[in-house]
Amino acid sequence: MSNNYTALPGVTNYVDKSAKIGKNVKVWHFAYVGKDAEIGDNVMIGSLTHVDYKVKIGDNTRIEGSVYIPPFTVIGKNVFIGPAAAFTNDPYPMSPKMAGVIVEDGAIIGGRSVFKPGIRVGSNSVVAMAAVVTKDVLPDTVVMGHPARPAYSRAEYDRKKKEWESKK
Ligand SMILES: CC(C)(COP(=O)(O)OP(=O)(O)OC[C@H]1O[C@@H](n2cnc3c(N)ncnc32)[C@H](O)[C@@H]1OP(=O)(O)O)[C@@H](O)C(=O)NCCC(=O)NCCS
Repeated sequence: MSNNYTALPGVTNYVDKSAKIGKNVKVWHFAYVGKDAEIGDNVMIGSLTHVDYKVKIGDNTRIEGSVYIPPFTVIGKNVFIGPAAAFTNDPYPMSPKMAGVIVEDGAIIGGRSVFKPGIRVGSNSVVAMAAVVTKDVLPDTVVMGHPARPAYSRAEYDRKKKEWESKK
C-alpha cells in the first residue's frame, strides 16, 4: 500500500496524504479519507462518505454514498455497505474513550443501519436496512429491526437473492 492516489478526472474529494491507499481505489465526489486511514485494493468509496482517521478498509469492499465511518472502525474484505449507514465509536458522548466497530469479511450492511460502538459484525452476516445494531452479529446470520435480532441464515439470504435475480 502507498499513497499514489490520484482523484478521477473532474472529481473533487479529500484524501489525506498520510492515508495508505491500495491499487484501483475509487473515491467519489466530496468524500473524505482522513489521516492514517488504510484502504485496500479495489475499494470504492461513494460520494459524501466520511472515512475518519485510523479507519481500516479491506480489499474489494464497496461503500455507497453518505456513509459515516468514525476513527478506529475496522472493515474487512469483500464487504458491502449500503447508503447512509452510520458506525459510531463513542457510547457516551463526548468521551475521549473510543471503540471502533469491527465488520468482518463478506458482510452486507443495509442502508441507514446504525451500529453501537465496539461491536463485531460477523463474517458473511447481513444487516437489514435501518437496523439498529446494539450487539455482536454472529457470522452467516441476517439481523433486522431495532434493536436488531437474528431473522434467518446467510444461506437463506443467498437463496432469496438467487430467486430474485432469476425472475424477469
Ligand atoms: C434484510 C432484507 C434482505 C430482508 O429481505 P426479505 O427477506 O426479502 O424480506 P421480506 O420483504 O420477505 O420480509 C420478511 C419479513 O421481514 C421484515 N423485514 C424486511 N426488511 C426489514 C427491515 N429492514 N427491518 C425490519 N423488518 C424487515 C418484513 O416486514 C417481513 O416481516 P413479516 O414476516 O412480519 O411480514 C431486506 O429487507 C434488506 O434490508 N435488504 C437490503 C436493502 C439495502 O439496504 N440495499 C442497499 C443497496 S441500495
